[in-house]
Amino acid sequence: MSSITALDIGSHSIKIIVAKNNKQRTIEKALEVKNPLASVIPQSGQELAQFTELLANLFHDYKIEQSDVRLSLPESLVTCKVIDVPYLTDAELASAVGWQAEQVIPIPKNDLTLQYQVLNKPAKNQGNATMKVLLVGAKKSLIDRLNNVLLELGIEASLLETQLFSLIRSLDIRSDDPESIILQMGASSSDIAVISNGMFEFSFSAKNGSQLLNAAIAQSFNLDNQQAEEYKINYGLDQTQLEGKLFQVVKPMVDNLTLDLQKTMRFFNQNHPSQKIKRIVTSGGPAAMKGLNEYISQNLGVEVVNGAPFSNVKGQIPQSNHLSFGVCMGLIAREL
Ligand SMILES: Nc1ncnc2c1ncn2[C@@H]1O[C@H](COP(=O)(O)OP(=O)(O)OP(=O)(O)O)[C@@H](O)[C@H]1O
Ligand SMILES: [Mg+2]
Repeated sequence: MSSITALDIGSHSIKIIVAKNNKQRTIEKALEVKNPLASVIPQSGQELAQFTELLANLFHDYKIEQSDVRLSLPESLVTCKVIDVPYLTDAELASAVGWQAEQVIPIPKNDLTLQYQVLNKPAKNQGNATMKVLLVGAKKSLIDRLNNVLLELGIEASLLETQLFSLIRSLDIRSDDPESIILQMGASSSDIAVISNGMFEFSFSAKNGSQLLNAAIAQSFNLDNQQAEEYKINYGLDQTQLEGKLFQVVKPMVDNLTLDLQKTMRFFNQNHPSQKIKRIVTSGGPAAMKGLNEYISQNLGVEVVNGAPFSNVKGQIPQSNHLSFGVCMGLIAREL
């Protein structure tokens, strides 16, 4: 039985999952390794060489399968837009979609790689029936840089997908699930998507990752980055620790995030007056912060839950840090 390898290169850590390509996607390996380069895309020829060496070592040391390698793309590289268009056949849509993308995706045509997916199509062309189409545009030049790292290793990626879409798949959302915000947190960014009736509505990426929090803690307590990270992981939003001094540093950052979530809820409600966001599903390393779910929930009055990327699979499920693997599990789950 062949295997699938999912690769999620984060600025803090690289996550890899290898799973059997069977219906159950049995997990064979799950790894999380610190990213010593602290970036997700090579910016120069020298960085390309460093990335290539780093991944070559990982593939070699952990004997990672190379036959079906799937790579996640950082959300900051892509623009996603849902558009309403008149009823079109597949062929008509294929020829119209490029022009549509030009109107809504701010990437020059000669550097645009575009994928699209029909989210909702009426059964027949009736009256004013419209269909919803998701456009995902990315800068070809940036994607190529990432892809080149794998090509240097002789690997042609079988799938490149933006991380929010992988994550959403891992959450196995159904059409009767409540309107939800999906919050993917990382060291360098926080990405927010809205799902209603089981369908993607919109997304955006904010540059407030947990690395900023480390920096603020390090500065306030005169610590190095590693010690600051330990403070953050051990105490989180616990007000009883360190006489509440850590809480005072962490709070403004979490308040910024809460504000972004609140704006997202309002925006959704403005566009869908009869609907409201009812829950927030969180994922990514920083989503494990102590007291975070309760804090956001109290401030916004909605349920906040952690995603559970391993809930439906068997095999070598990692002992800890499940929240870090949502993106990889979504890549693994995709049928190609
Ligand atoms: N229990 C915890 N409480 C608070 N923060 C945590 C906890 N566990 C992990 N983190 C933080 O999560 C971050 C790493 O998360 P993750 O691996 O998802 O980031 P990344 O994918 O490398 O980043 P990005 O995708 O933004 O480039 C680190 O900053 C780490 O300190
Ligand atoms: Mg990440």
